[in-house]
Amino acid sequence: MALLLAIESSCDETAVAIVRGSPGVQTQVLASEVASQILLHREHGGVVPELASRNHSLHLRGLVEKALTTAGVSLTEIDAFAATNGPGLASSLLIGSTAAKGMACATRRPFLGINHLEGHLLSPFLQQTSVPAHLALIVSGGHTLLLDVQGAGRYQKIGSTRDDAAGEAFDKVGKMLGLCYPGGPEIEKIARTGDPQAYDFPRSMLHDPHHDFSFSGLKTAVLYTLQKSPSPLPVADLAASFQQAVIDILVQKTLRAAKETGHHRIALSGGVSLNLALRSAFEKACAAANYQLILAPPAFCTDNAAMIAFAALLRHLAGECSALEDDIHPNLPLV
Ligand code: KG4
Ligand code: ZN
Repeated sequence: MALLLAIESSCDETAVAIVRGSPGVQTQVLASEVASQILLHREHGGVVPELASRNHSLHLRGLVEKALTTAGVSLTEIDAFAATNGPGLASSLLIGSTAAKGMACATRRPFLGINHLEGHLLSPFLQQTSVPAHLALIVSGGHTLLLDVQGAGRYQKIGSTRDDAAGEAFDKVGKMLGLCYPGGPEIEKIARTGDPQAYDFPRSMLHDPHHDFSFSGLKTAVLYTLQKSPSPLPVADLAASFQQAVIDILVQKTLRAAKETGHHRIALSGGVSLNLALRSAFEKACAAANYQLILAPPAFCTDNAAMIAFAALLRHLAGECSALEDDIHPNLPLV
């Protein structure tokens, strides 16, 4: 059994988690603390990097202590320390990475730098005993990625967004509709009372032979619809129609990619995968196609450190570690 402590600070959530696990056994999440900065950034309509990093450094020590208390372990019992080393905001990544390296140094334990996207990718398997071959869709604020996964650490990119990420489109359309930051959860909430067929927004690249995505045309279509109307439009209908277009694109393109790659198992992760309408559309489509669907547990969809700790645990158990000299990488690709 190995005990791992991980820090996630790539954007606007400061998070610390402690997990315990060994090969072939379901990993135990002993603590998963998240200090959200959403309210802090809301008044600016988006994340302010300078504010984010200052708040990571203000909250991190308290969160580490809280996680240790919740887990009922002491710092010296931790077998390895990990932190997200990219992609993300440089000044934010540095805070978590430097803190984890400091603890690793002080306790003479190994350090692991973890790709944030690998954390999301593996999060659906946090409560399983292994990572089987599957087709993965990561839908977050910064990324929309389709990957052919043969197991932990064996990933091949087969598609990604050519412009906005799915979550970014939710956030930008939310802003246009006068909703609070972040737009994703706000659009989901208001869309429940709207008609998803009220506006026929474009489903870009739906029938193209590749597996890439594009959401900027959809975002612009919402903007033009708003600009062209002489009177205010029903926000709930706009939100529901926009959300339905995103869902149609994600579900149809992912299922086609599964068919083409021969996968019968699909895993969904990232902040946008918290969306209940998206989850249920995937459930329906996968049931109809006889595919197994593995959804990231809601607590591990948006940024958290449990997913980073889990990715680090798998690498630690495989005998891997990173050098303390390793830098952070704001544009770190997954593959
Ligand atoms: O994974 P995440 O926490 O951070 C990144 O790595 O980017 O994802 C945040 C994104 C934001 O764009 C947010 O609007 C979106 O996830 N999001 C949602 C929902 N909850 C969060 N999008 C749609 N529906 C939701 N319920
Ligand atoms: Zn994320």
